[in-house]
Amino acid sequence: MNIEKDRIIIFDTTLRDGEQSPGATLNIDEKLTIARALARLGVDVIEAGFPRASKGDFAAVEKIAAEVGSEDGPTICGLARATKEDIRQAGAALKPAAKGRIHTFIATSDIHLEHKLRKSRQEVLAIVPEMVGYAKSLVHDVEFSPEDAGRSDPEFLYQVLEAAIAAGATTVNIPDTVGYTTPAEFGKIIRGIKENVPNIDQAIISVHGHNDLGLAVANFLSAVENGARQLECTINGIGERAGNAALEELVMALYVRRSYYNPFLGRSADSTEPLCNIDTTQIHNTSRLVSNLTGMLVQPNKAIVGANAFAHESGIHQDGVLKNRLTYEIMDAQSIGLTENLIVLGKHSGRHAFRDRLETLGYNLSEIELNKAFLRFKDVADKKKEISDLDLQAIVNDELQQVPEAYRLELVQVSCGDHARPTATVTILTPDGQELTDAAIGTGPVDAIYEAINRVVNIPNELIEYSVKSVTEGIDAMGEVTIRLRHEGVTYSGHAANTDIIVASARAYLGALNRLYGALQQGDQAVHAAAAAATNAI
Ligand code: KIV
Ligand code: ZN
Repeated sequence: MNIEKDRIIIFDTTLRDGEQSPGATLNIDEKLTIARALARLGVDVIEAGFPRASKGDFAAVEKIAAEVGSEDGPTICGLARATKEDIRQAGAALKPAAKGRIHTFIATSDIHLEHKLRKSRQEVLAIVPEMVGYAKSLVHDVEFSPEDAGRSDPEFLYQVLEAAIAAGATTVNIPDTVGYTTPAEFGKIIRGIKENVPNIDQAIISVHGHNDLGLAVANFLSAVENGARQLECTINGIGERAGNAALEELVMALYVRRSYYNPFLGRSADSTEPLCNIDTTQIHNTSRLVSNLTGMLVQPNKAIVGANAFAHESGIHQDGVLKNRLTYEIMDAQSIGLTENLIVLGKHSGRHAFRDRLETLGYNLSEIELNKAFLRFKDVADKKKEISDLDLQAIVNDELQQVPEAYRLELVQVSCGDHARPTATVTILTPDGQELTDAAIGTGPVDAIYEAINRVVNIPNELIEYSVKSVTEGIDAMGEVTIRLRHEGVTYSGHAANTDIIVASARAYLGALNRLYGALQQGDQAVHAAAAAATNAI
């Protein structure tokens, strides 16, 4: 295998660690949509899931391997604990990929060994080469992670990594599983590995880290300075607990500060050769897609992809930017694919213009998807004269959500005001084809709608988050509603965009209920809970 050490490999784990965020559960078609977007973005490796965790995960990895893992596409990776059955299943799911990678892991910190694995260091040291060797018999490309490396004894870590590389691992990934280390410490761990693992030149050093103290990105950049060449990250930084290092922040730090980072990769400071393969102009689209499909909102002040990331509010700043953009801007909004919210289409625009604009935005829709999205576009254009890129993205992301509509909203109507009891009526087509109408009163119009929907659908749940935000500025802007609800400890999300926020609220809620209904139908609720318990250990 060719070990490239003069550039940064971007390993995206949005579909594995990212999907471990509560409520971020995606169905197989949504995972495929995200995998395609990641391939367009230019990630080198997609960690598509944990095949042993559930039948759904296995099927998703297999499908992504078949449809996105082409010879010129990204490497497709499947996670496996260091057990024969996990590794066998990962190998089987990855079969259709032109380039498949098994990522196997076992904990190495004393606290994990004693309380979780109940194994001695010697036992772990025996398991690692055996399992890496087994993975190597199934695929060429094997990655090994010593879980909780950030809190492991460095001397033991060196021994484990040496054994993993000797058995065939070509990437050794160093996880800060609990987000505990500081940048200087993490850099020192990477340097220690470079200097003390005798066969380290036969592998790429990778890093994986959680953001519990908000230090994940800083830790990774320190790791790059000390020899790490693969970064494991997620879109919008989603993931277990406080999430993972955010892909967009890492990539833009390497892009904006390339003259600082170039020398660490043996280049001259003024080299213009990109440090990684990411097409930065796809960052904004991909971020919105992931946020819409997972229901994980992006905070407005989030670096790079937050709504305010390129907004200048203070008069002094605005004045400076008007005189010269560089006074207050270190990067250009267009470099992440943020167009100047131009009005691009209207109700007279045809299919051709619609398709063209979507292609420019990076969407390659099938004929069926295009037809559906075009009908939605016409509907929105009837209500809202001018359609911008942001509107188009909201429309298409809404259509790309592929929650099977077991329950379908046929009508929603509310009456409310300061002298009226908020009352809602809904008509819903049920999975067995009945058209049911019911009504309810609530503390406000949205509460009334949700009460009325609950009377029809009748699956107990607790609403844990409701948020509405406008897609663009202006009084006729579309509203995006995201909701999260909980049923027996498992969170489900729903998302919808509409010019009428009452309709969007009803559709988002029904979307989440449809996800819940789908999981109950497939008996997946138990599988998810078990998978969550298994992966919580990760
Ligand atoms: O956080 C972690 O340690 C992980 C490993 C499986 C890499 O997710
Ligand atoms: Zn992790």
